[in-house]
Amino acid sequence: MIDINTAKGNIEAIGFMDIDIDVNLDLFAEIEKIKKEKNAIVLAHYYQEPDIQDVADFIGDSLGLAQQAEKTKADIIVFAGVHFMAETAKILNPNKKVLLPDLKAGCSLSDSAPPDLFKLFKDKHPDHLVITYINCSAGMKALSDIICTSSNAEKIIETLPIDQKIIFAPDKNLGAYLNKKTGRQMILWNGACMVHEIFSLEKIIKLKIRHPKAKVIAHPECEEVVLRIADYIGSTTGLLKFSIESEADEFIVVTETGILHQMQISSPNKTFITAPPNNSCACNDCPHMKLNTLEKLYLCMQYETPEIIMSDSLLIAAKKPIQRMLAISKQYGL
Ligand code: 13P
Ligand code: SF4
Repeated sequence: MIDINTAKGNIEAIGFMDIDIDVNLDLFAEIEKIKKEKNAIVLAHYYQEPDIQDVADFIGDSLGLAQQAEKTKADIIVFAGVHFMAETAKILNPNKKVLLPDLKAGCSLSDSAPPDLFKLFKDKHPDHLVITYINCSAGMKALSDIICTSSNAEKIIETLPIDQKIIFAPDKNLGAYLNKKTGRQMILWNGACMVHEIFSLEKIIKLKIRHPKAKVIAHPECEEVVLRIADYIGSTTGLLKFSIESEADEFIVVTETGILHQMQISSPNKTFITAPPNNSCACNDCPHMKLNTLEKLYLCMQYETPEIIMSDSLLIAAKKPIQRMLAISKQYGL
């Protein structure tokens, strides 16, 4: 019997909040020093704050990060992202130390699919294959046949026979987008990302009127009404590539704001406008991703905690569907 409820460590026990860092310390230099001393690698998602992106060895989308985690020769993987991403790195590297600067950096989408409830749902559809978006817990992965990300989901679905019945979890928006793209009728779990559901269609349309030449570029976790007006839909890496390769000079970016850092570095003469949320707060910043800070990254590398710890049975069960995803991605050069 696999424990599908992922064990979380105890960050409070470490007392990070009580450790004062000398304000004169050059954290960028210190982090570089620790990387060399400990043979550590820093993997960062595009939604991390700019300082963290600037010290990372690799910045990427969920697929790119999983691929880097799979091939790294480092002894310690420091994951500047959210819990499910660090967990994926651990599943691919059970014998390595995987650190997450703030263990509370979760994900609303992942939380929308508790494994015990999903198991009941899955049991009601025994003839269905389960494709699960990587934004889920290890427990969910253990219940899945294939994992996917926003950059390989369409290709993964296309490799399956057209009459194959499929459950897609946990993101209903990505699932609906994929149903439309592939012509399938996958059964969708009713989960969503709190950041990508917050964008205001009305405000985006007003922005587009004020910037008629701007291309609207959106992540497929957004709602269908928003995706309908997008000029390009893709993963964070896809959005970044599109902004580099497009001849347009202006972009309305409908995803988390962190991606703008690399867009601006890659295309300093182009203008990037963040799509506004349907209220006046900065809800297009992911509160989970932004829990990580440069200070916490430094402390976590210095003290080698908090660490991702999982049971062997969960590690083994969650690995198979991830490996299947990585193999298909390799086959199609993704
Ligand atoms: P990708 O970077 O894989 O597009 O995922 C976006 C996201 O929401 C990660 O939490
Ligand atoms: Fe989860 Fe959404 Fe934050 Fe990504 S942006 S980590 S899907 S809550």
